[in-house]
Amino acid sequence: MAVLNDEQRREAEAIVAKYPNKRSALLPLVFLVQSVQGHVTDEGMREVADILGLTPAQVLGSTSFYTMFKRNPQGEYLISVCRNIACTHLGGRKIVSALEERLGVPAGSTTADGKFSLEAAECLATCDGAPVLQINYEDFYDVTPESAIDLVDKLERGEQLRSVRGEPVKTAREISHETATAGVRELATDMESMRTIGGETPRVDTAPGHRPPEKGDRG
Ligand code: FES
Repeated sequence: MAVLNDEQRREAEAIVAKYPNKRSALLPLVFLVQSVQGHVTDEGMREVADILGLTPAQVLGSTSFYTMFKRNPQGEYLISVCRNIACTHLGGRKIVSALEERLGVPAGSTTADGKFSLEAAECLATCDGAPVLQINYEDFYDVTPESAIDLVDKLERGEQLRSVRGEPVKTAREISHETATAGVRELATDMESMRTIGGETPRVDTAPGHRPPEKGDRG
């Protein structure tokens, strides 16, 4: 059975259309199937391979390289606690232990209700906020075991969390979908606005993101 429905297939086509070489759409399409299934299944990778004219092994090669692609079922909220040097010195391990106890699962696992996944992460590149954790890739700084548990409690109560930058914490599938389709709407809007200038369709080589053709591009 197909992973992508008709509407998602149209999204996939819009993503592919962004790139002069359709192989370049590989990572966004893997994000797209992850947004549909919650993780990247063999079926999802086969479908991406089909769309792009690649082999499933080529898709797996890229999928298995990036930690943001999950090969096993994930929770709605992925909590990543930094275990690198600055955060470890400032109590990162205690945060992991507190969350393991609160969630009842070890790091690297997902709760039985599918709500939370917990992972220990490498440096999250915000060492000045150590100890740091992310929830679905939104940052929280100066975290303590107590404040980490408070974040989980709030999510369980259905409260909207905001990161240190004020960004709302979204679900894992929403984040995958946003990442997959980043720039697609803007590209369509840009093209539409360009079309209306003087009522003429712009030349292809003035389109946003255009670059001269290279060997290996589609004809
Ligand atoms: S060591 Fe934790 S964010 Fe860099």
